[in-house]
Amino acid sequence: MARKISIIGAGMTGATTAHWLAERELADLVLVDVVKGLPQGKSLDLLEAMPVIGKDVRVIGSNDYAATDGSDIVVITAGLPRKPGMSREDLLNTNADIVKKATEETLKRSPNAIYIILTNPLDTMCYVTMKVGGLPRERVIGQAGILDSARMRAFVALELGVSVENVACYVLGGHGDSMVPLTRHSNVAGVPLNEMLPADKLAAIVDRTRKGGGEIVALLKQGSAFYAPSAAIAQMAESIIKNKNLILPCSIYLQGEYGLKDIFFGVPAQLGSTGLVKVIEYKLNNEEKAMVEKSAVEVKESISALKL
Ligand code: APR
Repeated sequence: MARKISIIGAGMTGATTAHWLAERELADLVLVDVVKGLPQGKSLDLLEAMPVIGKDVRVIGSNDYAATDGSDIVVITAGLPRKPGMSREDLLNTNADIVKKATEETLKRSPNAIYIILTNPLDTMCYVTMKVGGLPRERVIGQAGILDSARMRAFVALELGVSVENVACYVLGGHGDSMVPLTRHSNVAGVPLNEMLPADKLAAIVDRTRKGGGEIVALLKQGSAFYAPSAAIAQMAESIIKNKNLILPCSIYLQGEYGLKDIFFGVPAQLGSTGLVKVIEYKLNNEEKAMVEKSAVEVKESISALKL
């Protein structure tokens, strides 16, 4: 039987996730959204692209969660963007309600599903799904770190004129301005980044990485990044469906790793058919530890503003 991935929220990130996933021919796909006709229209359009790209993927769209029955993976991208006059806390609790409903409605139809969360504020929305669903931490994984790391990799590759494949960058921490780019561990074909780039160039790349989301929002004028975030989700889903055991930076519920507890936080995570297989721990120096602690305080504040 074909595997099944349901994507809740058929907006920019949800639909583009479906696109990347269809190209990988990993699973049949379902798009669900509250807007009438939107998931149906986008999924029909994508289905009609399958003969052209030669992939046998069934894609359906619905406003009804019944379509998600028996999913192996549920991706949650549903949410509202921050509107003028809306505080971060307002947005947090509005999106928490949306993510809560998406979790409840999908989990009763797919009791064994692994959840990949994208809705912002990311680390807090992961917490909502885990708590509301009563799920083990292995089955709730947030996408943020692949995106942040990919941005840094892209900037380094551009600067040095080398293939993106040769550039390995690792960004830990919360998905916000306090993220922790690990320049000491990042490298180009095994050579540490600080030996490849002068300090000022490296500092500029770190700064651009931290502000990467905002840079795109400012250019687009409305909406936020969607190609790279959704490509990251597809990579996570592939590692799970194929049991590849890729180690990817993801938001994971920590139970003592990195000295942190009861918090979703960006760390390197091995992903296999059961979801999270293992958290990988880097040896951090004092400066890196201080950055991690600062970032953790921000995520904790966001979680404590939740009204579940
Ligand atoms: N149930 C299902 N879908 C919903 C619900 C709901 N209760 N509420 C909103 N949606 C849908 C919207 O109708 C919209 O189609 O979620 C979709 C969100 O899509 P976009 O507005 O295009 O936003 P997108 O760019 O995809 O980002 C989604 O991911 O990166 C984060 O910050 C971003 O939280 C945001 C989320």
